[in-house]
Parts: sequence; C-alpha cells; structure tokens
Amino acid sequence: MYGVIRNLLFRLPAEQAHNVALNGLDLAHRLGVLSAFSPKIDSLPVNVMGLDFPNPVGLAAGLDKNADHLDALGALGFGFIEVGTVTPLAQPGNPKPRMFRLLEHQAIINRMGFNNEGLDHLLARVDQRRYKGVLGINVGKNKDTPNDQSESDYRKGISAVYSRADYITVNVSSPNTPGLRDLQFGDSLKGLLEAIKDEQFQCEKEHGRYVPVAVKIAPDMDDDGIRFVASALRETGLDGVIATNTTISRDAVAGHAHADEAGGL
Ligand SMILES: Cc1cc2nc3c(=O)[nH]c(=O)nc-3n(C[C@H](O)[C@H](O)[C@H](O)COP(=O)(O)O)c2cc1C
Repeated sequence: MYGVIRNLLFRLPAEQAHNVALNGLDLAHRLGVLSAFSPKIDSLPVNVMGLDFPNPVGLAAGLDKNADHLDALGALGFGFIEVGTVTPLAQPGNPKPRMFRLLEHQAIINRMGFNNEGLDHLLARVDQRRYKGVLGINVGKNKDTPNDQSESDYRKGISAVYSRADYITVNVSSPNTPGLRDLQFGDSLKGLLEAIKDEQFQCEKEHGRYVPVAVKIAPDMDDDGIRFVASALRETGLDGVIATNTTISRDAVAGHAHADEAGGL
C-alpha cells in the first residue's frame, strides 16, 4: 500500500505532494480508517526536560507549520509532535519551487523560508485540537524583522504559545531566513538567550507553570562554535538543545542535479 501511494505522490512536485499527503491523512482520520493503517506503537516511555514522552520518536517542526493536522498526525502514534515554525505575523515564504527531492539520496533540499499563517492562526488550531500527546511549539522571527530586533519576535512567540505548549523550541537555525543563523554566535546568542530566559520567567509567574524551552541549532558549526553554544546554553540555564536543523553542506549529495539548489538538506 505504501509503495503504491508513494509512487502516485512522487508524480507530483514535492510541495504539492506534501499538501496532498496531509489533506489525505486528515480525510482518512475523519473517516476513521487511519487506525487501520497505523502500526501498533510499543510503549517506550522516556522523561526529558521533566516531560513524560510515551515513546522517543517524535515529529520534527516544519511538517505541520500551522498546526492544521495535529489530530491526524497524533493518531499515527508519535511520541510528541512539534508544530511550527510559527512567526508572529503570517508570511508567504520564498517563491516556488522551494522543495526538491534527491531520490537517489533519500533526501530533500528545502528553502521554504518560514511560510506560515502566523501566531493567531496557530493558536486557534491548537485550541481546536483533540490530540492529547506531548505538544512542542517552535517559534521563529519574521523575515522582515531585523536581527537586532529579533528578541521582540521571540518574546512574542514564547508568551503567545506559553499556556498551550508542553515545551517551546526557539529556532535560530533555519538556513532560509537571511542572517538567522548569526543569532547562534557571540553576543547575539548570549543576549537572545537571556531575553528568552527572562520571557520564560515572566510567563511562569503569570501562568504558574514551568514550560521548558529548547534551542534548535544548525549542524554546520565547527568545534569552537559548538563549545560556545554549549557553554552559553548551560550558563543561561536553557532546558534543552534540539540537534539539529537541516545542513547547508552538500558533501553527501555532491554531483546531484539539485545539489546546488539553495536551502537546507
Ligand atoms: C521541508 C522541510 C521543512 C522544515 N521546516 C522547518 C521549520 O519550519 N522549523 C524547524 O525548526 N525545522 C524545520 N525543518 C527541519 C526539520 O525539523 C529537521 O530538523 C531536519 O529535517 C533534520 O531532521 P531529519 O534528519 O529527521 O530530516 C524542516 C525540514 C524540512 C525537510
């Protein structure tokens, strides 16, 4: 069954296939047939950041950027679902095509550019969910927000999602928002981490609940960069690190027709 559906979907451009697949999943869920295709998931509980996960395989950010498909994805048995990246305001992302299959490498290059419907839409969808599992919400900054004002976008994101999220991810590692990855280094990182911790502290006081915050990092860092990020995260007391986002390296796919497409592999 998987092979047949995959063959059909792979006749479509990658982004269209993505949308068709998710809408199909919603339909199957509404018709009540999804569980017939879902494997039985063994219980394999893990505790991370003080949260109980029923199993350690979750869905990473970017597949359901707007939290539009939470119930259907939840029915597949993931140990957690991370929605987003959501930015304060809706934005269209980069021009299409912006997602490329590299079949021989079982890989994708994407430069979506945080296409999303913004915080208000995501919150409304999260409020409608029936999904009861662990929910991570991944926040980012709008493309038009200059890096020296990025703190304000992250603060907005954290305070808006705080009461709904089991954990919050601060994404500073998409390769598709110009300059975003610069926030992973030097004083920019330290300043941002302090602002994040401060926002978390304010929200904890307001809501009477501690929601862990993790920072999502890029894989394209040298050893000194990794040491710097690690010590900055520990000094500021961030709860976790999500390793990693997509890579800008093309070593693994050199020579492929799409290898030179800009984006994350
Ligand atoms: C099409 C696509 C869109 C993505 N969008 C996001 C995103 O919005 N935010 C984010 O933090 N990561 C995003 N990612 C990165 C994934 O969450 C994940 O970190 C990355 O794909 C590496 O995990 P993998 O090796 O399991 O693919 C995206 C990845 C892909 C392929």
